[in-house]
Formats: sequence, structure tokens, C-alpha cells
Amino acid sequence: MNDLSPDRDDRIANLKGLGCSRKRVEDARFTQGKGNYVDDIKMPGMLHGDFVRSPYAHARVVSINIDAAMALDGVVAVLTAKDLEPLGLHWMPTLAGDKQMVLADGKVLFQGQEVAYVVARDRYVAADAVELVEVDYEELPVIVDPFKALEPGATVLREDLEGQTSGAHGERRHPNHIFLWEEGDKAATEAVLDEAEVVAEETIYYHRTHPCPLETCGCVASMDKVNGKLTLYGTFQAPHVVRTVASLLSGIEEHNIRVVSPDIGGGFGNKVGVYPGYVCSIVASIVTGKPVKWVEDRMENLMATAFARDYWMKGRISATKEGKITGLHCHVTADHGAFDACADPTKFPAGFFHICTGSYDIPVAYVGVDGVYTNKAPGGVAYRCSFRVTEAAYFIERMIEVLAQELNMDAAELRRINFIRKDQFPYHSALGWEYDSGDYHTAWDKALTAVNYDGLRAEQAERVEAFKRGETRKLMGIGLSFFTEIVGAGPVKNCDILGMGMFDSCEIRIHPTGSATARLGTISQGQGHATTFAQILASEIGISADSITIEEGDTDTAPYGLGTYGSRSTPVAGAATALAGRKIRAKAQMIAAYLLEVHDNDVEFDVDRFVVKGAPERFKTMKEIAYAAYNQAIPGLEPGLEAVSYYDPPNMTYPFGAYICVMDLDVDTGQTEIRQVYALDDCGTRINPMVIEGQVHGGLTEAYAIAMGQEIAYDEMGNCKTGTLMDFFLPTAVETPHYTTDFTETPSPHHPIGAKGVGESPNVGGVPMFSNAVHDAFRAFGLRQSHMPHDHWRIWRIAEGLGLHG
Ligand code: CDP
Repeated sequence: MNDLSPDRDDRIANLKGLGCSRKRVEDARFTQGKGNYVDDIKMPGMLHGDFVRSPYAHARVVSINIDAAMALDGVVAVLTAKDLEPLGLHWMPTLAGDKQMVLADGKVLFQGQEVAYVVARDRYVAADAVELVEVDYEELPVIVDPFKALEPGATVLREDLEGQTSGAHGERRHPNHIFLWEEGDKAATEAVLDEAEVVAEETIYYHRTHPCPLETCGCVASMDKVNGKLTLYGTFQAPHVVRTVASLLSGIEEHNIRVVSPDIGGGFGNKVGVYPGYVCSIVASIVTGKPVKWVEDRMENLMATAFARDYWMKGRISATKEGKITGLHCHVTADHGAFDACADPTKFPAGFFHICTGSYDIPVAYVGVDGVYTNKAPGGVAYRCSFRVTEAAYFIERMIEVLAQELNMDAAELRRINFIRKDQFPYHSALGWEYDSGDYHTAWDKALTAVNYDGLRAEQAERVEAFKRGETRKLMGIGLSFFTEIVGAGPVKNCDILGMGMFDSCEIRIHPTGSATARLGTISQGQGHATTFAQILASEIGISADSITIEEGDTDTAPYGLGTYGSRSTPVAGAATALAGRKIRAKAQMIAAYLLEVHDNDVEFDVDRFVVKGAPERFKTMKEIAYAAYNQAIPGLEPGLEAVSYYDPPNMTYPFGAYICVMDLDVDTGQTEIRQVYALDDCGTRINPMVIEGQVHGGLTEAYAIAMGQEIAYDEMGNCKTGTLMDFFLPTAVETPHYTTDFTETPSPHHPIGAKGVGESPNVGGVPMFSNAVHDAFRAFGLRQSHMPHDHWRIWRIAEGLGLHG
């Protein structure tokens, strides 16, 4: 009956709830220069920290002389490992169960490693003093190749671990070996591969790259010695975890530590880890009694903070002659750099890489990952992906293309005949995951139709003929990618970071006049949480999103949460938000029933009010109910209208997507032109289509960068060759392709509003799409595999190698 209420549509529109392309409320601030980033924070008497960093990738530190630096006017302190040692802070635990030097303790293991920390009156004096610290190094042999690191007799990099035959993740079979992590049935997989009609084998390298957020990492530590409180402002993607770690490391009780993440200019995984800069700034503030700011520069960010990927993936995939996949075998050599500082849930040293069976119904599979130490920067973060899922998606989407070549089959058709069918969900993969929901065939057909796939193939065939006749020097590649993401870490039963279960939280306060403030354990770094989480609540509690403020990032006010990375905010904190909203609604129902003088069960929720069932003219709006919660004595009910929810997800969510691009490629210059990108995403219930589109555009651009040029490269001496934005490719508007976005909507059955994450999907699906387009352009000439990034030079080399330059 209420559906017939004449103003109902207006009331729904007024809420700006689920499904509304509400404009981002954050942007008024950001576009008018009113953002408040770490480097905007200025405190009275604030000092500035800067690092002396190693020019060598592997060297013994013979001596450090700080006299000249200390003599410089304005220098307050120079910290070395010797100063931190009595505090037990010269090393710190990593997120991966290893330990990492805070300041060089006897040796350095990668170029750019922190050796000494200078504290000075201002940033410029600190930089000058860095130049005056004299460090005497004795060079040691450098290993940048993980395969060489595992050779018998290879130089031992981590002397501190010498003699330790096991680590946090089991047995170490070589001094430079970190772990072997395995999943699946090795024997059964090998048996299937041995018997198979067709087997395709290939080594796929996903090169080392870097999240490179526009804002680098930094913090301001301020120790108030009078009240014993430490305040730490910083670029933290997980502020509560930083507070817990800071408490454990410093011995300061957790209630005496306040961690604040102000506005963050992009994270992409780079701001999950704990860096020496944070530890040194805290120590320096405790020692000097003054606030201490540390903000790294671009080179430091690229050279020393968390890298991503660097996976050598050796795959074997088997199939019948008709193309039905029968088994998948994968061995990864994972270059973790000098310390194992990967940011993964504790029990998953290779993250969720074992989602590498992708979107396909593969009966048997095995994956083994060897973690290896080298003389490179530590890290291993999920660069806009959920814990090594991009590596997994790239691996399987390349293997599918290689198999299609082996079978002489169309790669789109090969995908179609192997997709997990809609009726197979929830689907149990051979590597142990339970995919919650999906409809891959519908998405694939929609994508292929949208781009006129058959027409593109016909055009490509004509182009190859024209090329062979010498009429053109341009080839055409069709890049196909179908990915399944796994986001929403995660169930507390198996996902934790440093022992903290990966739940998340939301606390809501409805104010007497009917507006609300909600606080979450997550922290936006540009994803628009203040916009979208208010929309979830609006639909749940019937208060317009415009009347709801979302707050994140201050541990003194926000409920404990595990933060934002791996697209976990919507699957976990978004669910907590919906459930906290439902608690509000349950109490509001009792208040409404009291006010309307009926039984609780005789009222029902309708958009923004409770109405008496069968008598829609009798209702109380949420505004009226909120007021009553504070000004009426309601028998049996406490005053006020507040709720908190801590949400432990029963499962991950599994967003998916179908991406197709068309690329023209000049074999003589190696230049590429992206003619068309079509990206269909399914992230379940869509909260804000416009925000989703923005997320997809951003992620596709990062994927384009990674596939086509972005890398962290080292020479044989361990010198980082890509430490500036002159060398490290960040696309500008000039290079960025145009995108067409599309969607299907397959809700998650276990999420309260059916939403899955989306932030990382375009990176996960985009990288194989662009890379496959390059490979596809050369397929007719026999190219099987060529490693990313596909910059002009490398593409030219492929053409040269295939004899296309005549
Ligand atoms: O954890 P993170 O915020 O990076 O990723 P996410 O949970 O995928 O959310 C990214 C943005 O997209 C947020 O503002 C979400 O609320 C929004 N989103 C949406 O509108 N609908 C979805 N189904 C998923 C995300």
C-alpha cells in the first residue's frame, strides 16, 4: 500500500541512498585546496627528520661519524642503530613475521636503506646535515637475481638469520630462502599433467613495480611528556594497527597513543606497512620532547618503501584436445628483497595467490611459492589488489592465451568453455576457496557483443594480410581478460595481521534533530568513503545521506578496525555499517510503536519512517523518532539512539569482470595506441555507480602504466635505475586511454547489502588485458611470451626478434 504513497519516489530520491550517483562530498574540500595532509600539519616547535641512506646495495658499515653533522647550526640529534639498540628498536618486526633493520646494524642490504636519522630545526638543515654524516662502507657482493640467490654457495645476505633452518612460514632450505608455501594437490596435478592430451608450459614474469601514490609516506610524532600521551599523525592505511604496533614497540600503553590518519593522497598499498621513518620520528620526539615531522621525498618513496609484485611464475596447464582444462601447476620464485616485509594476512605468505585458477573450473591444481631474499628494497604490498591477486590473475590470463595458442583455438572461446557455470556457485576451487557468486557467461557474452568481437577478429585478420603484403607497418592486438577478484579480508578464523583479526567496525550516533555521525575503522585515501558509506546508512536508517557525516582515521574516536586496503572497506566495514544501521532501525521501531501506541510488530519501515501496517497515514519519521529518543521517557528503553557493529565476514566476496581492449602497434617504433577499452565490472550491489566508475578509471590507468612501462629496475650492482618520475612511468592525461565502463550485478549472498569490493578490480583485470593485447598483436607471427612492461623499446625488440624488421 505504501508503494502507492504519492511522495514515495521523492522521499527515496531525497535519501540519496544505495544506487544513487551522489556527487563526492569530499571534493568541495579537495578542489578548493582545503585538504589536510600530513605535510600540512605544523606544530609549535616542530623538528624535522631526514635519513642518511645507503648508496650501496650490499655493504658492511665500518663506521659512522656524526661529528660534522652535529656541529651544523640547527641540528638537534643524529640517531644511529647504536642509539636505538638500548631501546630494542634498532630492528623491528615486519608484517610477515620477519624482522627489519630500522637503522643499519652493521651492514646494509639494499640501496636506499636507512643508515642514520638526522633531526634538525628545519627540513633544509636536516638535508644539509645528511650530507655531513660520514659513513665508511665496505662493499660486499650483490645479488639482485632471486635464482642466483638460491644457488649453492651464494653470498649469505641475512647474516642475522644464519643457521636458522626455519622461519615464520616453515623450513628454509638455503640461507637466502625465506619459505616454501604450497597449496593444492601436487601429486594429483602432476599425474593429470603427465597423462594430458595437451600441455602448455610457460614462465610468466610479473615485474617489480611500485604503488607510487602522489603523496609520499610521512608522519608527525608528538610526545607530550607531561600527560604521557603520544600523538602520531601519518599516512596510515591502517591507523589502529599502527597504534597497536606502536604500543607494543614503545611500551606506551595503547590508551595513551592517538594515531590520526588525516587526508591521504593515495595509498594503493604503499601506506600499509610500518617504516623506519615512523619509528625514528617517535623515538626522536620522545628524546627531544618536541614534535618531529618526517616526510619522504619521491626518490626515497620509489627506492625504499614498499614495492609490489616481482613474481617469477612457472606454469603448466593441461587440457583435452577440445580445450577443456584438466589441471594447473604453478611454481613461483618470489623476490622479497632484503627483508620479508610483505603486507599479507599472517597465515598467507603469498597472499591470496592461490586464486590463480581464476574464473575457470579447473578440477585439480597445485601452487608452490618460494620466497627469496635479494639485495633489493623490502615490501611486497598489494598494489591496488587484494594480496597478490593481480599476479594470480595475470598468470592465469596469460596461461589461457598460451594454451589457446597451443590448441590453435580462439582465446575468447577457450575462456567460455572453461568458465565456472552460474549453477556451480558457491563454487569450491581446487586450491581451497569458496567463490560466493558469479555469472561469468552472461558478462562475457555482453562484453564480446559490446565490442563486436567477431568484427574485430575479421579486421585483425585483414590487417595481418595487409602487413604481410607490405601495405602497413601496424599490427592490431585484441586484449582479452576475464578476472575473478577475492576481496574482503577477511574472516577472523583465518585472516589476521600481527594477530589482529581482520574484522571491521562502524559506530553510529543519531543526533536529537535527526542527523547522524558514523565512525568507521577504515580510512579513505581517495575512494570516497564519506560519500558512499553515508549512502549505505541512508538506505538502512531513513536519514538522507546529506545529513550523515562519516568520520574515519582517528583512533581516539573511531572504533577499532583493520583499515583500508585490498578493497576490504565495502565488504567488511560496509557490512558493519549496514548492520549498525539495522540496530538503529530496530530500536527506532520500538520508539515508533510506542509513539503510535501500537505493538512493535504493527509498524513497518518505509524509506524514511515507520508506518502502522495497513494505515499508511499513521507514521513517525526517523526525524521524529530521533527526537523522541532523547526527549521522551520510553518505558523499557534507554534514552539515546546509538549503535556499534563489529563485523567478521563469513567469507570473502568475489567480484569479477570482463575487459577487452584494442591496440594498434607500430612494429618499427614500438609505439602503441589504445583504440578502445571496454571494462565490464560486477561488484554485486552497486552503492554509487559514479564512484565505481571513478574507481575503474583510476585502476585501469594504473594497470595501463604497469603493463606498458612502469617498473622498478635494478642494475647488477643493485642500483635502482627508476628512482624518479623521469624514469618511473606515471601516465598523464596525454597517455591515458579512453574507457567505456559497463556492469552486471550479481549480489554477494552473504554480504548484508550484497556488495562486493571494486577498488582493485580494474588493476587486477586491466594488466592482463593490456599485456594480452600486445601478445595478441604478434600471435600471428608466433610470439608466445614476452615480459612486461611493454614499453616501446621492448615492443620493438619483439618485432626485431620475430624478424619483422626485414
Ligand atoms: O577498500 P577500498 O575503499 O579501497 O575499496 P572498495 O571497498 O572497493 O570501495 C571503493 C569505493 O567504491 C568506495 O567508496 C565504495 O563505497 C565504492 N563501492 C560502491 O559504490 N559499490 C560497490 N559495490 C563497491 C564499492
